[in-house]
Amino acid sequence: MQRYLIMGLGGIGLTLAKQLAASGHEVIIAGRTKPALAGKFHSLDIEQEESFSSLFDKTREATFDVIINTIGVLHDDGNGPEKSILQLNPEWFMHSMQVNCMSTLLALKHLSKWMPRQHELKFIAFSARVGSIDDNRLGGWISYRASKAALNMIIKTVSLEWKFKFPKATLVGYHPGTVDTNLSKPFQANHSTLFTKEQAVNYLLEFSQTLHPDMSGNIYDWKKERIPF
Ligand SMILES: NC(=O)c1ccc[n+]([C@@H]2O[C@H](COP(=O)([O-])OP(=O)(O)OC[C@H]3O[C@@H](n4cnc5c(N)ncnc54)[C@H](OP(=O)(O)O)[C@@H]3O)[C@@H](O)[C@H]2O)c1
Repeated sequence: MQRYLIMGLGGIGLTLAKQLAASGHEVIIAGRTKPALAGKFHSLDIEQEESFSSLFDKTREATFDVIINTIGVLHDDGNGPEKSILQLNPEWFMHSMQVNCMSTLLALKHLSKWMPRQHELKFIAFSARVGSIDDNRLGGWISYRASKAALNMIIKTVSLEWKFKFPKATLVGYHPGTVDTNLSKPFQANHSTLFTKEQAVNYLLEFSQTLHPDMSGNIYDWKKERIPF
């Protein structure tokens, strides 16, 4: 049995939490809305740093084995991915940056205050292939691409610091493929392969078994292949 923290309880996060709990793992769930799911829930607000410090202060005595952050945004009722720079909305750009980066930043900050030096934590932050600068062949989606590219840089930068502070920890980014959730719903027609949430969770859990500290700072996809970024 392992001790998991699942951040973000949307399509992938909630399915993951349910599957882990059904397999007998200890699962702590954290997000902005409490789902109808038994287990320990911690309220997280990406605009309130205190909600992150209190989560990691409370769990100081018994650290997590695996942390998976699924929080992310691509569109809402009034905004979506831009097809052209002419559609850029500065407020939406800043919101995308905040949602796609801040929860990982704050979790890493507050975790770094208390984590025992030899702890073998595995931290997986959900990124996206479109956040790869190297892989960008189509353009568009500026806010989402830029915010996931920033997340990739955060993962790389903190992993270099962690190599010295926490040499047995692993910190990576992860692209799940296109998964049938609210996030991808308006864009699914463009993709020939669409995974169910359950398939995506199975790929993720298989991937998590392969993690070791040498992989830190990299972004991987559901095939366990490194994405150049
Ligand atoms: N689905 C795909 O095809 C796909 C592809 C590549 C990458 N990803 C990445 O995978 C991750 C999970 O996505 P998903 O498909 O499960 O999407 P989802 O169902 O839309 O879940 C998104 C999660 O982010 C949280 N979130 C969104 N805006 C927030 C805000 N302002 N403050 C706090 N939390 C916020 C949501 O919280 P609420 O539940 O409270 O709304 C939810 O837990 C995301 O990081 C996404 O970028 C998904």
